[in-house]
Amino acid sequence: MFDFRIDADDQATMYRDLASALEGLVAGESDAIANMANASALIYETLPDVNWVGFYRNIGGELVLGPFQGRPACIRMTFDQGVCGAAAKSRQVQRVEDVNAFPGHIACDSASKSEIVVPLIRDGEVLGVLDIDSPKRARFTAEDEAGIVSLGEILSRVL
Ligand code: SME
Repeated sequence: MFDFRIDADDQATMYRDLASALEGLVAGESDAIANMANASALIYETLPDVNWVGFYRNIGGELVLGPFQGRPACIRMTFDQGVCGAAAKSRQVQRVEDVNAFPGHIACDSASKSEIVVPLIRDGEVLGVLDIDSPKRARFTAEDEAGIVSLGEILSRVL
């Protein structure tokens, strides 16, 4: 049984603990789907105020839904669609305070108000993206971004 209880007083410690829990969870496992499944569950359980955590994988230049926690979501996106497409195409983190103000945002759950998408890149190749949604507007700060990018770095090595 995995029982990661992350209960830190400050964000930096929380993200450090989350990163080491993630390292432990994926250590020694080479199956990408298993690692994405456990990663989405761990992040969903740990971060407050999130309603969707999951992956889109780059399959032949298209983003295809991977393991996630939350409501059923849009299955396929091109690199020209949505916040996820923008992250994959630009290879830059997309931190969106108000998804309704993002041109081309794809609403999978009308409860989602803000979103962060981190591209997962290994050896110059976009493997996919890690997408996290929140029902709170402007939920993700620069500190969240730094923490979530560090999770993305761990994941890029094991996907
Ligand atoms: N909102 C995303 C689509 C995926 S869902 O949020 C799960 C986007 O615009 O890329």
